[in-house]
Amino acid sequence: TWTTHNVVDEQVALIKAQVGDKRAICGLSGGVDSAVAAALVARAIGDQLTCVYVDHGLMRKGETEQVEKDFVAATGVKLKVVDAEERFLNALKGVSDPEEKRKIIGREFIRVFEQAQAEIIADEGPAVEFLVQGTLYPDVVESGGGTGTANIKSHHNVGGLPEDLEFQLVEPLRQLFKDEVRMVGQELGLPEEIVQRQPFPGPGLGIRIVGEVTKERLDLLREADAIAREELTAAGLDREIWQCPVVLLADVRSVGVQGDGRTYGHPIVLRPVSSEDAMTADWSRLPYEVLARISTRITNEVRDVNRVVLDVTSKPPGTIEWE
Ligand code: XMP
Repeated sequence: TWTTHNVVDEQVALIKAQVGDKRAICGLSGGVDSAVAAALVARAIGDQLTCVYVDHGLMRKGETEQVEKDFVAATGVKLKVVDAEERFLNALKGVSDPEEKRKIIGREFIRVFEQAQAEIIADEGPAVEFLVQGTLYPDVVESGGGTGTANIKSHHNVGGLPEDLEFQLVEPLRQLFKDEVRMVGQELGLPEEIVQRQPFPGPGLGIRIVGEVTKERLDLLREADAIAREELTAAGLDREIWQCPVVLLADVRSVGVQGDGRTYGHPIVLRPVSSEDAMTADWSRLPYEVLARISTRITNEVRDVNRVVLDVTSKPPGTIEWE
């Protein structure tokens, strides 16, 4: 019978057999799949595994720390963190077009990741032969079931693969669905915030700022997003909504009034959606009190934001993200 306990034991044995005394690398994105895959491989081969986390500066508040501190504490894994915020911000300077942003972020990500890989190989020698991927069963089906060297959803997954992949793949989640992956993560003792995390796009907050991406705007959006997440969690709505992008309309200003002064600030958009698989979605009918609390707090606590608006568009015609 299927138990998470059996899955862990079985996968640990398989990984040991596959990797032997060689070494492996795993990219962490902050998401569930890569975290659980890495934790399984760490359980099997310990410090023969090195994880890489590229901090592109586009994560939400607290997420990088979660990987650096909580994930490492839970798994004991060897982690290389690359602080690439400046590099990404420089590359994104002056860019407002959504596709252009995605391309730049994807390209920089692969460059930084490849460089980190090269450094690890230089440190650890040619025994580095394996790359761990958090490929799930639905990804396998979608890509036609191939195995070996994958290029699964590289368009969509910025935690993506280098083009000239020469590693053998370790994919311990290939038979699992998302909810099973979460159970395995729990069994492995991963932090709740990682195991239960809702979907978050690889390009991060870079595609949630309509307009140019700057450090100042990112900081502002991080504050607004943290407030929305905090209130949704406090209201017990995390399981009910699929995800809730929080978007900064950096190129839009509107007039407001605060205290006895006129303001000319930016709107924040809340985009709570309900969905089964992100292919289609409906806007979530959130309780008015929760919306009111989020709105009051964001306009009070976040500098330069004087308006909060709600996106009531389904998908289609809207996508979940704004860019
Ligand atoms: P859209 O906006 O296309 O989003 O309705 C569908 C789902 O995919 C997520 N998303 C991404 N995930 N890299 C990712 O890993 C990306 O570039 C990306 N773009 C969108 C989005 O958050 C939603 O869950």
